[in-house]
Amino acid sequence: MAIKVGVIGLGMMGCTHLDVYAKLEGVEVAAVADKNPKRLSGEEKAVGNVEGQAQGGFDFASVKKYEDGMELIADESIDLVDICLVTPLHLEYAKAAFAAGKHVLVEKPLARTLEDARAIVAASETAKGLSMPAMCMRFWPEWSWLKDAVAQNTYGKVLSAHFSRLASHPGGPFYSDGKACGGALLDLHIHDSDFVQYCFGVPDAVMSRGYSKISGEPDHVMTQYLYEDGPMVSAEGGWSLSDGYGFTMRYVVNFEKATAMFDIGGEPTLKLIQDGKSEAVKVRGAMGYEIEIEYMVDCIKQGKKPETVTLASAAESVRLVEAENKSIATGNVVTL
Ligand SMILES: NC(=O)c1ccc[n+]([C@@H]2O[C@H](COP(=O)([O-])OP(=O)(O)OC[C@H]3O[C@@H](n4cnc5c(N)ncnc54)[C@H](O)[C@@H]3O)[C@@H](O)[C@H]2O)c1
Repeated sequence: MAIKVGVIGLGMMGCTHLDVYAKLEGVEVAAVADKNPKRLSGEEKAVGNVEGQAQGGFDFASVKKYEDGMELIADESIDLVDICLVTPLHLEYAKAAFAAGKHVLVEKPLARTLEDARAIVAASETAKGLSMPAMCMRFWPEWSWLKDAVAQNTYGKVLSAHFSRLASHPGGPFYSDGKACGGALLDLHIHDSDFVQYCFGVPDAVMSRGYSKISGEPDHVMTQYLYEDGPMVSAEGGWSLSDGYGFTMRYVVNFEKATAMFDIGGEPTLKLIQDGKSEAVKVRGAMGYEIEIEYMVDCIKQGKKPETVTLASAAESVRLVEAENKSIATGNVVTL
């Protein structure tokens, strides 16, 4: 029997997830929820800022529709509740979905604050269903390649790593309101903070600089993740570049015996430079969202707890960006 999914929140991310479910075997979107009737009918479609996101390939005609996400959670036919609501609502809806015994996929960042993130983790501990935060970079093929290369020491130790994620502002009320979205620091740059702790562990301390231009919260950040016995790691993230800039996502990682370079707009996207030669690294041609959802569905089918990313590790990433925010505000190094 197909796993029945209900998606709450039909914005950019909800539509991206719907596209993925439409292509996956053994899973069926049975219901969608959005308080905006035009989004609910499919008349108004959200668009993504990354090529391939929210393509609009989902047919809204054939599914149950709820204006109230809580009604979808109460629908007994739904096995997996996929929460693609704006960040401050993640806590309330995740708790309700756990209490209803559903499996839960919740978009990143896990929550607006560390306190909320920890409350989600605590509520999940007695939940019947499986749960996973949608930290999609952990599933992005060129990034899981990097994680494996780091974990297996394939090219020796990492000496330095730099991550960069820059964009024009996505627009819209949610992303313009720092109180709701947390600025680029929490909404965008958390992808890199999360990947840093995934590869290298939670740093001993962070030193960040940042500024606000649009949302009232940091819209551009540069962070050094300080490790006593680890590599030199930094990341830059921002979404206040002039309109027309678009979106770039890159990393350069220097191992003892090779250098890896990723550029989402590059051809190829991933290069390995070794012994004077640069070679394309072949990875699966899929986006992280596809692989993350396949993984969640697979875990449900096998009755196995997701391990690639857990709610607790996503809460750690919120702790990390909150430390970065404190460093921006005080100008000091902040220990974790
Ligand atoms: N993984 C990624 O790379 C990625 C990318 C973009 C956004 N996100 C995350 O996804 C989440 C949603 O972002 P988005 O860009 O899709 O936002 P959005 O504003 O485009 O969409 C949110 C939708 O939720 C609906 N909504 C709001 N309150 C509701 C309620 N109480 N009940 C039902 N529907 C309600 C809105 O009408 C809207 O359609 C955010 O947490 C964001 O950070 C993740």
